[in-house]
Amino acid sequence: MNNCGIGKLITLEGPEGAGKTTQSEALLQWLVKAGYNPVVTREPGGTDLGRRIRHMLLDAGSDITDKAEILLYAADRAQHVEKVIIPALRQGRIVLCDRYIDSTTAYQGYARGLGTEFVEQVNRIATGGLVPDLTLIYDIPPDKGIARKKSSLDRLEQEDLEFHRLVREGYLMIARREPSRVKVINALNDIETVTRESVEAVKTLLRG
Ligand code: TMP
Repeated sequence: MNNCGIGKLITLEGPEGAGKTTQSEALLQWLVKAGYNPVVTREPGGTDLGRRIRHMLLDAGSDITDKAEILLYAADRAQHVEKVIIPALRQGRIVLCDRYIDSTTAYQGYARGLGTEFVEQVNRIATGGLVPDLTLIYDIPPDKGIARKKSSLDRLEQEDLEFHRLVREGYLMIARREPSRVKVINALNDIETVTRESVEAVKTLLRG
């Protein structure tokens, strides 16, 4: 259970091009039909401040050190947790969040090589220890994920295939370490199968 005691925090994670946004929309539809009033949000960019931080982080022209990068993601998260996520959980609502702490572990901890211990410390400071009730990792090989991208690639997407391979490895390591919180879904399956598995995982959480 998240440390607000009520509400549920569900996070959607995965490498580039895994289809998180499509699944977030599908889960939103299912939850509304089932009578819930969920909040859909994302990181970076779930607040006004966060949208400005997102622009700095993803702009292909930004020159950002690895340490500055992780701290910008953390600043976005600190604002988001306090202003959006915790208030919604306190109202007993379900929060569907596109990316959260596991993105930092996979991208900055693994792919940038900052290490999981450092990332855990930064995440703890940013979130006050708020851990998701359920995390769905949409797994896809990096070449297939990047190939799905239609618009021009942002600063992170432009990283080489080895970076994206490490991101995926980071996610799969998280799933192995925390099997009760994290469910891995094969994002190469057709959209209907992926949605069915996502809904099943959410139903299991809500049945509690
Ligand atoms: P997206 O929201 O469009 O998926 O893209 C956000 C990008 O930021 C994506 O490349 C993953 C990256 N990211 C990190 O590197 N660390 C983080 O903590 C978060 C939330 C995202």
